[in-house]
Amino acid sequence: MEIIIQPTPQAATDVAARIIARLLREKPDAVLGLATGSTPLLLYRTLIAMDLDWSRVTTFNLDEYIGLPREHPQSYHSFMWENLFQHVNIAKDRVHIPDGNAKDIPRSCNEYEERIREAGGIDLQVLGIGTDGHIGFNEPTSSLASRTRIKTLTRQTCKDNARFFGSEQAVPKHVITMGIGTIMEARQNLLLAFGTNKARAVAEAVEGPITSINPASILQMHPVVKVCLDEPAASNLQRADYFRWVYENKPEWQTL
Ligand code: PGA
Repeated sequence: MEIIIQPTPQAATDVAARIIARLLREKPDAVLGLATGSTPLLLYRTLIAMDLDWSRVTTFNLDEYIGLPREHPQSYHSFMWENLFQHVNIAKDRVHIPDGNAKDIPRSCNEYEERIREAGGIDLQVLGIGTDGHIGFNEPTSSLASRTRIKTLTRQTCKDNARFFGSEQAVPKHVITMGIGTIMEARQNLLLAFGTNKARAVAEAVEGPITSINPASILQMHPVVKVCLDEPAASNLQRADYFRWVYENKPEWQTL
């Protein structure tokens, strides 16, 4: 894991945006895994401003609420079109978001996995992290080998997401999420986290034992993971000085 600590969310986002921009220039038909929530908002704004060519890019989103109409302002479908897709030249048929209104959800989850395979796999997966360490909506105790499937949110995640829905009760309890096994197959993972409320989950994921209690900790087993943090999100890391040292002393050819 490469831990990149920056003074502000924008500075951490700029590093992440440069990694994605480089990928899209090197591989114009890249397959991106995308995330929702507050964290990637800055990233999408930054990528839009970079004026990249998305015409051959394929995307797969991590998750979606079950039963929320696609047009609902808080569906991840709405989120992605509003905050990224409508601002770039992406082809509509290259966008994939789990269908939270499918008649046969288990079947549509299997088809989602199949589509990822057909697209050649995910080149780079963008991740946020929940205050409980979830990635996608893989809540604590999720199987570390899981595939795209239905999950029930924890009370904590419902509380965390109440701000988008006006109340905790209004947050849908069920979701479709790519599994941890699915995320681990991405060729590269790029996790962003900002703010002190993420500090504990980040420290456990990076420096703690690998455990399904903190699903993000499985990323320690992935060969290419970059973690872009602002200072508050990095504030519980015991080895923060080492991570800064590594970043400051990168050989020229490795700089971002
Ligand atoms: P947030 O959510 O970006 O809204 O903090 C992150 C997550 O739940 O993965």
